[in-house]
Amino acid sequence: MERLEKARQEIAALSEQLRYHDYRYYVLDSPEIADAEYDQLMGRLRELEAAYPELVQPSSPTQRVSGRPLAGFGQVEHRIPLLSLDNATTQEELWDFDGRIQRWLQGPVIYVVEPKIDGLAISLTYEDGVFVRGATRGDGERGEDITQNLRTINSIPLRLRGEDLPPIMEVRGEAYMDRRAFDDLNRRRGEMGETLFANPRNAAAGSLRQLDPSVTASRRLNVFMYAIGYYEGIELTTHWQVLEYLREVGFRVNPLIERCSDVEAVWKYCERIESQRDELVYDIDGVVVKVDNLAAQAALGATGRSPRWAIAFKYPAEEATTIVEDIIVQVGRTGALTPLALLTPVEVAGSTVSRATLHNADILRAKDVRIGDTVIIRKAGDVIPEIVMPVESKRTGEERVFTMPSHCPVCNAEVQRLPGEAVTRCIGTACPAQLVESLVHFAARGAMDIEGLGPALVSQLVEAGLVKDPADLYYLDGSALRTLPRMGEKSVDNLLRAIEASKSRPLARVIYALGIRLVGEAASRELAMHFQTMEHMMAASREELQKVDLVGDKIAESVIAFMAEPQNRGVIERLARSGVNMSEATEEVYSTEAPSPLAGKTVVLTGSLRRYTRQEAAELVRALGGKVTSSVSRNTDYVVAGQDPGSKYTRAQELGVKILSEADLESLVEGRSQ
Ligand code: IVH
Repeated sequence: MERLEKARQEIAALSEQLRYHDYRYYVLDSPEIADAEYDQLMGRLRELEAAYPELVQPSSPTQRVSGRPLAGFGQVEHRIPLLSLDNATTQEELWDFDGRIQRWLQGPVIYVVEPKIDGLAISLTYEDGVFVRGATRGDGERGEDITQNLRTINSIPLRLRGEDLPPIMEVRGEAYMDRRAFDDLNRRRGEMGETLFANPRNAAAGSLRQLDPSVTASRRLNVFMYAIGYYEGIELTTHWQVLEYLREVGFRVNPLIERCSDVEAVWKYCERIESQRDELVYDIDGVVVKVDNLAAQAALGATGRSPRWAIAFKYPAEEATTIVEDIIVQVGRTGALTPLALLTPVEVAGSTVSRATLHNADILRAKDVRIGDTVIIRKAGDVIPEIVMPVESKRTGEERVFTMPSHCPVCNAEVQRLPGEAVTRCIGTACPAQLVESLVHFAARGAMDIEGLGPALVSQLVEAGLVKDPADLYYLDGSALRTLPRMGEKSVDNLLRAIEASKSRPLARVIYALGIRLVGEAASRELAMHFQTMEHMMAASREELQKVDLVGDKIAESVIAFMAEPQNRGVIERLARSGVNMSEATEEVYSTEAPSPLAGKTVVLTGSLRRYTRQEAAELVRALGGKVTSSVSRNTDYVVAGQDPGSKYTRAQELGVKILSEADLESLVEGRSQ
């Protein structure tokens, strides 16, 4: 009994803390503790609840996803119907609304103005502060019971904050999916070959209509609450008070809601929110204008389905219908191929749209957009307009299916799509679409390290037509360079000297400089070490490549494709002809004949060394034939420990790995160079 009581108390305390942190994180968007700390509290609560299942409360923070998939949704009758809104689309209609209200109430009115979220209406019922039932709007009289699914939305409190909570209260609001979550969801669905959601609204609705709540839980939904329906035991006189009360007991209420003292202020608000529409992370389709005073609302009443005391001021739709005249492919600076639909120009949300992105091959396939199709397009947020879906009923049979090209439309090199990637890329090193980017990479530190050749000068060289691929750098002519703006005698000399100096970079750097997709500095070093010459590497088979450390299927695939492309072979050939080093170790300080004291050894560095930076020490180890890895294991041969070594040092001691000092490392070097 004693133990049970202690557990009960700890569970209560942990639940209270977790509820508070959920509130800070999901409602206020201002967390107070780190995720790890939160996870620890949650872990402890789960542990206790597992040990004492009789103490698990339905409103416990651990119980968001609970229960099994349903066979179907039950019905919920709304005690007070959920109404819909009349619309205004012009300034005049807004003034008419205000005129009607003023006549009815015989005097000036205060309004509350709220962004109209484009999601779906929900109703949440709380009994003594505990969430007991959640429903869709349905036909306004009767909705579907989606309690289990709504419980998974973290910004919906399972238990309200504070004392003296009403015995019963029904709260209303909008459930929605923000644009980021929507884009991520559709991208994943495209990759899996699943059908896409047309817009965030449909995605939110589809997610809430899942029979399995764990699916809903994976969907990143959110809510803003904006009204109270039926309630007992609280006194409220204005809508503004309602919103303040909702905030106080822990609901998420839109921070953009304001009070206005006349219709002019309402209009200004509508204009201001419209100008911010693109920056909001969720879709809105207008502003809802409500009479603030609740008694006045009651006096005004409703006509049919809509209240007289509120109106929706609607913005232009973000979707429109048009025709796909053609589909082309654009090549971006990094070589990514993006299919683009050319459209019959159409007005959407205040601007004329004549092209829309189709993102990539997966999305193109998932949407099945064909040339000649009538399509619904969407321009939401400050993103490029996109095609929502074709209108299949308008197909005549004349439409043409488009497939991604096998060659780059700009340079005709082969295109490549690596396993697990959505993007199709051009692999041409001389592709004009990517030339600036690939030259900047080529000349960068860590690659060929050509001093002074940064983005600005690269762009100049490309614009002047002096460089069409990386090899051209080594054939530059001084007199042509001097014709460029801001390139005097001295600058030209410096540049040519820097280019000349880069010819003796180690093979690993040359490989890295080529910008082969997925081949970073570490893989370049392994490739150089393994193949010793560029020629060997170019001739390597997939199997041979995969023998190299750090080179898996994807990298091997990428290297093979790169080397098979004639354009790239041409560049490498011209680099070699100009005198760029194409083999390992010839220019190194240490000759390959001397014994390598660290040959085949795996070395880990820890702590700070006096004479070398971490990078220099690593290069030294590699020059001595060793391999540098980052964590200590049984396979580690040596740990080189400098000042203040960390846990790697302790780990080495535990495993009995030999520890070298900086002096030990130096004597190896000296022994080597004698
Ligand atoms: S008030 C009687 N406020 O718009 C008042 N509705 O056509 C009814 N909506 O079904 C709703 N944001 O889903 C209200 N701040 C807001 C809203 C809002 C979005 C939706 C709601 C409703 C529809 C009305």
